[in-house]
Amino acid sequence: MNARVLVVDDEEAIRSTMKQAIDYAGHDCLLARSGQEGLGMVERESPDVVFLDIKMPGMDGLEVLKRIREIDESVEVVIISGHGTMETGREATKLGAFSCLTKPIETGDILLNIRNALEQRRLKTEVTSYRKLAEVRHEMVGESPALVQVADAIGRAAPTNSTVLIQGESGVGKELVARAIHRNSRRGKERFVQVNCAALPEELIESELFGHERGAFTGATQKQIGKFEQADRGTIFLDEVGDMSLRTQAKVLRVLQEGEVERLGSARTIKVDARVIAATNRNLEEAIDNGTFREDLYFRLSVIPIQVPPLRDRGEDISRLVAHFTDLFCTENNFRPKRFTPAAIDLMTRERWRGNVRELRNTVERLMVMTPGETIDTAEAREVLPSDARGGAGEVAANLAGTLREFKEVAERAFLVEKLREHSWNISKTAEVIDTPRSNLYKKLEQYQIKQEQDA
Ligand SMILES: Nc1ncnc2c1ncn2[C@@H]1O[C@H](COP(=O)(O)OP(=O)(O)OP(=O)(O)O)[C@@H](O)[C@H]1O
Ligand SMILES: [Mg+2]
Repeated sequence: MNARVLVVDDEEAIRSTMKQAIDYAGHDCLLARSGQEGLGMVERESPDVVFLDIKMPGMDGLEVLKRIREIDESVEVVIISGHGTMETGREATKLGAFSCLTKPIETGDILLNIRNALEQRRLKTEVTSYRKLAEVRHEMVGESPALVQVADAIGRAAPTNSTVLIQGESGVGKELVARAIHRNSRRGKERFVQVNCAALPEELIESELFGHERGAFTGATQKQIGKFEQADRGTIFLDEVGDMSLRTQAKVLRVLQEGEVERLGSARTIKVDARVIAATNRNLEEAIDNGTFREDLYFRLSVIPIQVPPLRDRGEDISRLVAHFTDLFCTENNFRPKRFTPAAIDLMTRERWRGNVRELRNTVERLMVMTPGETIDTAEAREVLPSDARGGAGEVAANLAGTLREFKEVAERAFLVEKLREHSWNISKTAEVIDTPRSNLYKKLEQYQIKQEQDA
């Protein structure tokens, strides 16, 4: 690869030897006789790599290095030091110099340093662009009052070390909230360790969370560091915390109380300083009533509770979200953006997104892929929206049913599911709102085989 290389040295002999080597390797070589001159060139010519003599009359190398860093963060600087100046060379590395060469300099070293510096630059650029993409991907979009309230809560929770419990339906953005809290906290530069408590089988979750020593159980052929330990100084995100077994809950509670973990198969306790953020789409209050969630753990987790509202309560956000997901999808896939007509947005605003923001996002992606033209209008939007957005529940039921009785049943079922969703599957509340005894609601759930896992 061809590079633009600047050599800053007051010695004519060094400059010319280096220029020869650099030219010979096919790179562009620029020369400067003093720090002052070198800085001007960094500004004007944006070199990829700078070879910088540490000992020059006038402005010395360390000072030049500092200023180069201020002008251009990404340029790589290789320090040239004499025999007596090794110490300064070390200091320069601390200031962000890429490496350090000692005189006399060999051609091979020059070229090797250029190559490595270029590789380093490439990696840095790549990391920056991934970071940017990750930031966009985790950006929270929306300005509805409901979401602004959530943003306020994030702002208040972030700087503290308090445990946060995020609740809300599936796909409303709970994970984004957790990441935003971490990002805006003092731990933002440390790790954000996510554990999906629902995805792990009971036998694995404890070793996943707390780690294990080699030989702790059959199959433990290697030592494993648990997620709590990994999150030390950072944040651990216990996702789907409502799905943890009672036994694991007891252990997690202990970690929260004591601030220390024990790896399975070890009696040694290890101090961990991990901030805990938990999320669930279950109704934990109800789980406590049913005896499937520990009340003491609930109180420990919900020091700062944040409720993320469903998309149907913040229709104002839909058009922004559509634009955001369009951009995101097109950037990630090198896709030509398509335009949504106001009527299509309007139709999407009226839809009751059951998978919430996630489903809206999937729908936008599907429309991007499936629509041949440049514009997405109501006709296209209708194609991909779930059936009950097209007509009312009544119309759907009428289509599905042959007899009056069937019609009533289909409509009744749809009504119940809708109401349950609206109230986050809280049975008591739903029963109250639709004005029927709880026992009757339970009976209906049984009769229509309505289950949260499949109908939520
Ligand atoms: N306000 C928002 N702005 C931009 N994207 C969002 C927003 N809310 C959610 N999303 C996106 O929607 C999708 C679902 O969000 P997320 O995974 O955070 O939901 P969740 O509440 O954790 O869902 P689940 O309960 O199913 O785990 C993700 O792709 C996320 O990036
Ligand atoms: Mg989630």
